[in-house]
Amino acid sequence: MSRVAYVNGVFQPHAEASVHIEDRGYQLADGVYEVWAVFDGKLADAQGHFERLDRSLAELRIDPPMSRAALKIALRETIRRNRVRDGLVYLQVTRGVARRDHAFPAPGTPPSVVITAKSVDRAAAEARAAKGASVITTPETRWARCDIKTVGLLPNVLAKQAAREAGAVEAWFVDDLGLVTEGASSNAWIIDREGRLRTRDTQANILRGITRKTLLEVIADAGLTLEERPFTVDEAKSAREAFITGAGTLVLPIVKVDNQVLGDGKPGPVAKRLRELYIQRARATAW
Ligand code: PDD
Repeated sequence: MSRVAYVNGVFQPHAEASVHIEDRGYQLADGVYEVWAVFDGKLADAQGHFERLDRSLAELRIDPPMSRAALKIALRETIRRNRVRDGLVYLQVTRGVARRDHAFPAPGTPPSVVITAKSVDRAAAEARAAKGASVITTPETRWARCDIKTVGLLPNVLAKQAAREAGAVEAWFVDDLGLVTEGASSNAWIIDREGRLRTRDTQANILRGITRKTLLEVIADAGLTLEERPFTVDEAKSAREAFITGAGTLVLPIVKVDNQVLGDGKPGPVAKRLRELYIQRARATAW
């Protein structure tokens, strides 16, 4: 079945879908995005992603392209037309098309909206999660507004490529104090030697992950101890367990940090359990 993409109100064959060469997203990375996991054709953690989208747009003073209700219909329709049961839906909103100039275009320039959807093989993803994955660490080189989900992802691209070349799935950024901030496209977690769950607090320069947010509720319900507090690379290397969270990876156990194998090199019981609980909750609450 051929894929279709939503581009500014029109569904186009995916292979031919395009935006103008003077789109500010293309020329200046002047735009934001969101990614929802899709379960049974429905949006996971829908509300959280919509709220973060509104916030990202407001922080950049980009006009919301349409109402949330209309956006939801466009997202669902893109999912339906691509026959995605399990997968991801991607939304990008840029400041629109205008003659190149760093400052904002004339008021009223319509934002550009692109939506794509793709299927994910959940069985293959489960098999990967059952094995666990590796991360590498890399110096933090990003700007100071990582709380805004912008399409300006060059440091993340370079970090992810370094991970790929090292046979790892993710790169963890490490700040000047030697503390892990987050991954190139996920939030970073450990279970320290005292058995406490640890993840960086959102006062730090990180993206406020929606999967992270839902998992905090799962953790509270499960009665586990959590500290939203930074950890060093050494603490990560000597952790009992580690994992990453994000709409793409959900909750993915990590079994190696740089060249250090964690524990027995297999996903830990807490990370495995949290993956199950998160998926259960996300599936049950998707709409
Ligand atoms: N990335 N941190 C960064 C830098 C991210 O890019 C992401 C998500 C996350 C996790 O956020 P959430 O739980 O809301 O997905 C954390 C998406 C999936 C992406 O870029 O494809």
